[in-house]
Amino acid sequence: MSKRTLILVACGAPLASRLADGVRAARERDWDPYVVPTDAAMPWLEEQDLADVPVIVGNRRPHEPRRTPTADAVAVVPATFHTLNAWATGNASTYPLTTLCAALGSRTPTVAVPYASHELTNHPAWPASLAVLRHAGVRVVDPHDGSSGSLEPVTAGTGSKLVDGFRWDWVFEQIALAIRGGHAGRESE
Ligand SMILES: Cc1cc2nc3c(=O)[nH]c(=O)nc-3n(C[C@H](O)[C@H](O)[C@H](O)COP(=O)(O)O)c2cc1C
Repeated sequence: MSKRTLILVACGAPLASRLADGVRAARERDWDPYVVPTDAAMPWLEEQDLADVPVIVGNRRPHEPRRTPTADAVAVVPATFHTLNAWATGNASTYPLTTLCAALGSRTPTVAVPYASHELTNHPAWPASLAVLRHAGVRVVDPHDGSSGSLEPVTAGTGSKLVDGFRWDWVFEQIALAIRGGHAGRESE
């Protein structure tokens, strides 16, 4: 049986330093991972051994074949303030954003782990974007404790502890729930 395809989108925030662990965790669970980093995530990726996982950067050329199979699930870890807001408004100006917008449009099970400080999350766009994405079925995971019901901003000076304490189990638990139960935002409808 062929393995299921997981697209791992990584944005430019400190939790991107745990991406190699995510690739390993995916393979241990019989997923076939593909990494789709934003430009801003690249400095964190350069420090990691991602083994031989395909890293898909930038748009493909017009006659180039598709570079990934159809995704069975998508996880964006971390999701920055910028990407989360752009995604919620349907901005598909980069390959990672196109991937995320298409995941919503195709109702692909999708998990997001937002990672942003108070200064950013107090912007009025943030709660609106989270509401849009949750309504569309995205399962939002708090990087502090894996909670999917609430989301705390990152407190300045606590980043290292938070990054070290993050568990990829939380993401795979939510992917499993998304696959089993359909869209989270539809559960109460
Ligand atoms: C060292 C460093 C840490 C950053 N941490 C965060 C963060 O925790 N959350 C966030 O939303 N943006 C953070 N940023 C800013 C984003 O990288 C920036 O907004 C970037 O444009 C995001 O692009 P992307 O969403 O395409 O990855 C950080 C930037 C740097 C250089």
